[in-house]
Amino acid sequence: MPVIILGIESSCDDTAAAVISDDILLSNVIASQEIHASFGGVVPELASRAHQQNIIPVIHAALQKANIVKNQLSAVAYTRGPGLLGSLLVGASFSKAFAMGLGIPLIEVDHLQAHILAHFIRNSEKPGTVPAFPFLCLTVSGGHTQIVIVRDHSKMHIIGQTIDDAAGEAFDKTAKIMGLPYPGGPEIDKLAATGDPSRFSFAKPIIPGLDFSFSGLKTSILYFLRDELKKNGNFIEMNKADLCASIQKTIIEILLSKLQKAALETGIREIAIAGGVSANSGLRARLEALKHELGWKVFIPALDYTTDNAAMIAITGYYKYLKKDFASLTDTPYARSNF
Ligand code: KG4
Ligand code: ZN
Repeated sequence: MPVIILGIESSCDDTAAAVISDDILLSNVIASQEIHASFGGVVPELASRAHQQNIIPVIHAALQKANIVKNQLSAVAYTRGPGLLGSLLVGASFSKAFAMGLGIPLIEVDHLQAHILAHFIRNSEKPGTVPAFPFLCLTVSGGHTQIVIVRDHSKMHIIGQTIDDAAGEAFDKTAKIMGLPYPGGPEIDKLAATGDPSRFSFAKPIIPGLDFSFSGLKTSILYFLRDELKKNGNFIEMNKADLCASIQKTIIEILLSKLQKAALETGIREIAIAGGVSANSGLRARLEALKHELGWKVFIPALDYTTDNAAMIAITGYYKYLKKDFASLTDTPYARSNF
C-alpha cells in the first residue's frame, strides 16, 4: 500500500495543494494571488483573505487531478513556518480540521527544509536522480538565503546565511527602484537575457565566513541610478537590459563565490540549489558551467519546484510519515525559521 499524502502550502502569497503517492507526485495545484502586484509587494492582510478564498477549491482540484478521494489519504502535511502568520494560520487550521475529521495523522513541515527536499520528488515520466547525502544546498528565496549541509531528509545544518536582505529581495528591491513590476526577480531575469552583464559593475560586499549581505548592493544601485538620472532622465529606460544583466550577474557572483567557499571548506561536491531564485536562468547556467569547471555534481530543481509549491510540502510529509514524525493539534505556526 503506498503512502498517500496531501501537502498544503500557505506561507506567503501562493495557496497550494499537492498529492503524492510515496515519492511520486500525482498532482500539484497553485493559486497565485495576483492582487499583490499592484501594491509592489505582498500585503499580509490581503494574503490571509485570499488563502481563505482559495484553500478549499485548490485542495479539491489537487485531489481530483490526483484521482484520489479523501478517504485514501494516509496523512495531511502542512507548512508550519516560516512565513506570514496570518497566511500560515489558514493552512494550519484547515489541515488540523481536515486531519482530525478524517482521523489521520497531521504532519508539520518547515518551508525551507521543504524547498530542499523538492529534489526528492519523482514523477511518473521522469524518475531522475536525487542528491546523495551529505550535500550542500544553496536555498535562495524571497525571504531567505542560506547554505545548508543536508545530512539526511531531516538533519540539516545552516552553515551560512544572509545578515540582511535575501537574494530574492535583492532582485525585487532593485527591480522596484527601476520601476519594474513585482515580483522583480522574473522581470530582471527576462530583461537580462538581451543585456550585457559586463556593462555596469557594482561593489560586492566583503562579509566574513559563509554569510551573505545584499543591502549594500541595493543602496549602491540606488545611488548609481540617482546620479545617472540627474544627467539623463531616460537613463533606466535606455539601459534597462544592460542594467538587469549587470545586477543579475553581481547577485549570482555573490551567491556562487560563497557556495564555492562552502564546497571547498566542507569537501562536499554534491551541490543543489532551491527556492524561488533558483528559477533564475543566469544562476542555473552559471551552475551548469561550474559543474564542469569544479567537478561538482549539480542538482537544479525543475522550474515547478523552485518557487513556492505544495509538492515540496507533500514530499517532506512523506519522509516524516516514514519516521512516524507526526504533529500535535496544538502546534502553532512560527514566523521565523526553526531549524
Ligand atoms: O521561494 P519563493 O517562491 O518564496 C519565498 O519563500 O520567498 O521565492 C520568491 C522569490 C521572489 O523574490 C522572486 O523575485 C524570486 O523568488 N524569483 C526569481 C525568479 N523567479 C522567482 N528571482 C530571480 N530570477 C527568477 N527567474
Ligand atoms: Zn519559499
